[in-house]
Amino acid sequence: MEKEGFSSRAGAIAAAAGSAVGLGNIWRFPYVLGQNGGAAFLLVYVLFMLLIALPVLMSEFAIGRKAGLPVLDAFKSLAPGKKWYLIGFSGVLCAFVISSFYQVVSGWTLFYTYMSATGQLSSLSEQEVETMFQHTASDPVICVIWMLVMLGITGFVVARGVDKGIEQYSKILMPVLLVLIVVVCVRSVSLDGAAEGISFLLSPDFSKLTPSALFEALGQAFFSLSIGMGTMTTYGSYISKKQNLSSSAMSVAMIDFFIAFLAGLMIFPCAFAFGINPGQGPGLVFVTLPNIFNQMPMGQLISVAFFFLLVVAALTSSISLLEVVVTFIRSSFGFKRKKATFISAACVAFFGVACSLSSTVFDLFDKVSANILLPLGAFFIVLFIPYELGKKRVCEEFEAHGGKFKLFGVYYFLTKYIVPVAILFIFAYGIYGWING
Ligand code: PHE
Repeated sequence: MEKEGFSSRAGAIAAAAGSAVGLGNIWRFPYVLGQNGGAAFLLVYVLFMLLIALPVLMSEFAIGRKAGLPVLDAFKSLAPGKKWYLIGFSGVLCAFVISSFYQVVSGWTLFYTYMSATGQLSSLSEQEVETMFQHTASDPVICVIWMLVMLGITGFVVARGVDKGIEQYSKILMPVLLVLIVVVCVRSVSLDGAAEGISFLLSPDFSKLTPSALFEALGQAFFSLSIGMGTMTTYGSYISKKQNLSSSAMSVAMIDFFIAFLAGLMIFPCAFAFGINPGQGPGLVFVTLPNIFNQMPMGQLISVAFFFLLVVAALTSSISLLEVVVTFIRSSFGFKRKKATFISAACVAFFGVACSLSSTVFDLFDKVSANILLPLGAFFIVLFIPYELGKKRVCEEFEAHGGKFKLFGVYYFLTKYIVPVAILFIFAYGIYGWING
């Protein structure tokens, strides 16, 4: 299999950020936060990001760069003859499960781009906006067709190899998306009745923090950073030895968190201003945003641009997901990239249709991947650091660029003791919470 790379080594970090920032930040984060009580959840999320998710991201980068190989081969080459490479298999399964429902939400986003471009989202009443989403999510034809279109675009890009075009476009388009988010935030927080939404997001009420909220916060942190399934290990293998690994990981995590936070600041003030239930689930962003756009000058233009840029953000993430499956099929069966992409996309299409037609399957895929598969994957990835690589080799990797990693001791302590124990504990606690409703 020929090695494919990015146009520049710095491109590897941009690509990792492209994988991280996506629907997870703008669609999933607000809906999960809304269901789990708001500000207290946000606080726990920040804590988990810093103490659990960031060390996992650093570990994935370090493993990938040390081996210089994609996830499966990375574990095989760093620990020959051992079973660590099974992490790669669970990653493939996970990429597959996430892709299936991710494409459905990407499809809704593309459909909303089309609807706003044709003026069909303009001047709808709040009730009509809500009905529009219910209609979209429950119409099998809309869901399946738009999901397939998004999957087709993803497949097209993946079939051509890590694409320089997408990389260059997204480097320009993602900052534009960020600017638009800020503009929409400003409008949202200045709506009449926004204050309640701001306090929902910022003043914590710890009585709302249930065991399953901790579980959800952890799953969301992993989902949002694309960690726990080896994607970031593979991206790590593209990072140059000259780059500072720890600060690269920190930048990716910061960008990712910042965008999710802004998404919250955009959604909740508006949701409260319009009397929308913040805990309603996966439809939250779609029933909220059109209402703000309707309150803005040049609202239609902003709406088209916003949904379009969200499609691009979703695309860079779904490319990274499909790529995992394609790499696996290529290296296991020796197929060419095009054939492997076609087979992967066909399988994702099959399960994507199931997620389009049944909200039970959709929810199951969403929860099982983020809350179960990713934490389990992350658990084994962090164990690999102290128990297989060992302190000296890991430290060498972090300091390969010639500088010192001042917080290495903290990172190593977290990775060896805190992260695995915390994952297990939160996991058990969450399952207990789930079972007991
Ligand atoms: N992190 C991506 C997002 O936030 C989703 C994703 C998860 C992508 C896991 C790759 C791997 O949208």
